[in-house]
Amino acid sequence: MLTTILCSCGDGTQKGRVGILLPSTETARWNLDGQYLWKDLSARGYAPVLAYANDNAEQQLTQLQEMVKDGCSYLVIAAVDSKVLLPDLAIAKAKGVRVIAYDRLLTDTEAVDCFISFDNYRIGRQMGLFLEEKLQLGTAPGPFYIELFGGDPADNNTALIYQGAMSVLGSYLDRKKLLVRSGEKALESIAIKNWSESGARERMNGLLKKFYSEGEILDAVLSMNDGMAMGIQASLTAHYPGRFPLITGQDCALPNIRSILAGKQAMSIFKDTRMLANKTVKVIELLEKGDHDFFRDLSTVPNRRRDVPVCFCPYLLVTAENCSNVLVKAGYYQPEQLQ
Ligand code: BGC
Repeated sequence: MLTTILCSCGDGTQKGRVGILLPSTETARWNLDGQYLWKDLSARGYAPVLAYANDNAEQQLTQLQEMVKDGCSYLVIAAVDSKVLLPDLAIAKAKGVRVIAYDRLLTDTEAVDCFISFDNYRIGRQMGLFLEEKLQLGTAPGPFYIELFGGDPADNNTALIYQGAMSVLGSYLDRKKLLVRSGEKALESIAIKNWSESGARERMNGLLKKFYSEGEILDAVLSMNDGMAMGIQASLTAHYPGRFPLITGQDCALPNIRSILAGKQAMSIFKDTRMLANKTVKVIELLEKGDHDFFRDLSTVPNRRRDVPVCFCPYLLVTAENCSNVLVKAGYYQPEQLQ
């Protein structure tokens, strides 16, 4: 079944149609990405077509096929599972469609012109550094107890965040300064399908029941995003009587910012989706102009088939100390939303 595809009355516009393929409306940020992309593309004379895929790769494939059939000249894709899209990406490329990997890298394909994202390895490293500092891993005797929650295994960002976090936490795990009572450390065993909040809650319920039911302490939870952090917090509230562990996240979703202010979640990462959308529209315009210099000067990331030119947008670490200041000052939230 197809999710509704929103289409601006594009026939009269002088610029091309741009298909926007986003994973789902479930994670709050994609709703904002969709709105900003739509607004910025329309303002520059493009005709956007927007589709959400309910985190279903097959559904996203059908949406992509429809967009190519309907004459989109550009595709902006945050893939649910890029490997499912591969044959059709090749078909799109052969037809001259230009493809932008939006926030998630399209891997194993030549059919990608540019990758626009945040540096996910560094985001993972930032989460690791945050926990290192807060737990004082370098100096305190420890050991400290942590559980790890990864994003969807088909999302390339998951592996990058994992590598980044492990570049800091790995040596403490090796030296047993940091311990995982469940023993679940490998990415395969911590990955949560679709980055699902309820999936994270259920896994945390299981861990608490099995490993923390007799007063054992949990010091930290590495959660790769805010949605999962909410599921983890719900589980802890219901089943963990001890002091809340340090919980990480990213996206600065509103419920999480409120939770940070209430002292429950420890941090999030502010990734300004307005910037990402804006950059995307600029890149589309540069592709249209054929500005080869711009793309030649960009650094690249390998996707196993080619080195893809990349634009990374800046991000900020947000905690209870700075969050109102950062997010309100950036105009991302109104002060009354944070009450
Ligand atoms: C994005 C995150 C998002 C997650 C779940 C990742 O690819 O980078 O911002 O929370 O997907 O949708």
